Amino acid sequence: FSQNSDFFLRILTLKSELKKKFTCGCRYVSKAAPKTQLEYDYDGPSMKTSVPGPRSQNVGAVNFFCNYEESRGNYLVDVDNNRMLDVYTQISSIPIGYNHPALLKLMANPNHLSTLVNRPALGILPPENFPDKLTESLLSVSPSGMTRVQTMACGSCSNENAYKAMFIWYRNKERGHNMPSDEDVSTCMINKAPGCPDLSILSFNGGFHGRTMGCLATTHSKAIHKLDVPSFDWPMAPFPRLQYPLEEFTRENAQEEARCLEETEDVIVKWRQKGNPVAGIVIEPIQAEGGDNHASPDFFKGLRNIARKHGCAFHVDEVQTGGGATGKYWAHEHWGMDDPADIVSFSKKLLTGGYYHKDELQPYRIFNTWMGDPSKNLLLAEVLNVIRRENLLEEVTRSGKALLNGLYDLQAQYPGILSRARGQGTFCAIDICDDATRNSILLKARDKGVLLGGCGDRSIRFRPALIFKEYHVHIFLNIFNDVLAEHK
Ligand SMILES: Cc1ncc(COP(=O)(O)O)c(C=O)c1O
Repeated sequence: FSQNSDFFLRILTLKSELKKKFTCGCRYVSKAAPKTQLEYDYDGPSMKTSVPGPRSQNVGAVNFFCNYEESRGNYLVDVDNNRMLDVYTQISSIPIGYNHPALLKLMANPNHLSTLVNRPALGILPPENFPDKLTESLLSVSPSGMTRVQTMACGSCSNENAYKAMFIWYRNKERGHNMPSDEDVSTCMINKAPGCPDLSILSFNGGFHGRTMGCLATTHSKAIHKLDVPSFDWPMAPFPRLQYPLEEFTRENAQEEARCLEETEDVIVKWRQKGNPVAGIVIEPIQAEGGDNHASPDFFKGLRNIARKHGCAFHVDEVQTGGGATGKYWAHEHWGMDDPADIVSFSKKLLTGGYYHKDELQPYRIFNTWMGDPSKNLLLAEVLNVIRRENLLEEVTRSGKALLNGLYDLQAQYPGILSRARGQGTFCAIDICDDATRNSILLKARDKGVLLGGCGDRSIRFRPALIFKEYHVHIFLNIFNDVLAEHK
């Protein structure tokens, strides 16, 4: 274990190293939010070159190469030693920042080495402590009404398998039992009904559920994801397009949501009539890739009822929204329902993929080699400890308010550029006047030391880690303001 103990020593000296190395002044300290520096975080961005810098040039689709050893807390460092405040966090997938001391300490524990080195085929040969680790991690934050979880490797394979579980459930419901007929068995081998039944998953305009074949058939955010790939003939319903500010458009938005619910029900009826019934409905609580589109709790309650009424399973895709960024572990908790869904899928901030499900959606025939990764559950259990110990969900709510208020102010200051500031917790977004300006703002912000992401046609999305405090919000707003001033 000599290498491992060296590693451990490095962590113990991390604090003093940080103090020695990074005593540079912060570019902006809000008076409203006094800085309570995280001991493992940097003071602020520090840019040596524009990004990508010389060591990252000519890298095709890759934005730039990173130095993960030097990245800390809310800051991502690149190979040219540029240190950027990360408000995008690896497409919303870093829960508690880079190199969190609690996670480094956990990984330095020799007792965890075998979990890191030996990746099991979890479906047949799980480690003895796997059920306990699930109880400590994923099951400790189960959505309301769900006590079962199936782990998977990524967001797409979680959704892909969740769809399969919904189809199997639907067919068993139709049969009245779970014993397939001889005809079912023989026809499925040649891709024909009834073994491979004509059933569909209903999804929403602007939704994103991944890029594997089934998921892609339910993804409708950008043509580039779907182009040239054959798809299933599955229905799509409209997702509400809300007008902002919400308080000025209460009536119009309620009408828009009522229209979408009505059309959804019509689509379900039509598809049953045409012999391709809807077995399941999949929806994101906030459409993320599609442009951070929100809808009210009433809309989701209405949809849940429609699913129940027509015997469709209701799948809430929390791959991007789950894990705390909205101020709750699950965005659907904001709907205030006891029975919000039949399936809730996750990945990203939960570090492992997977889905929670009701007892009736037993995954008997859901299987692949890895079915997740126990080392990720180990990390997740510690991430959840940190979230609880440091009250990070409350912090997110506080930082989220500061972020949204800051965006409202900037929107008032730059009405020609910004509109539709919106968000829940730190899961926020704002629209830019056009796609070209949006892209230019993203690049300029990056050169000034702030990493942001785009979504939809012309939105910028904010996806910081859960350790993004109010003073980080103000560092960000200050730089964002500088960038906007250049576009005025
Ligand atoms: C809501 C949603 N579902 C599914 C996925 C697919 O996850 P993955 O990229 O891990 O396959 C994403 C990815 O961004 C997502 O945002």
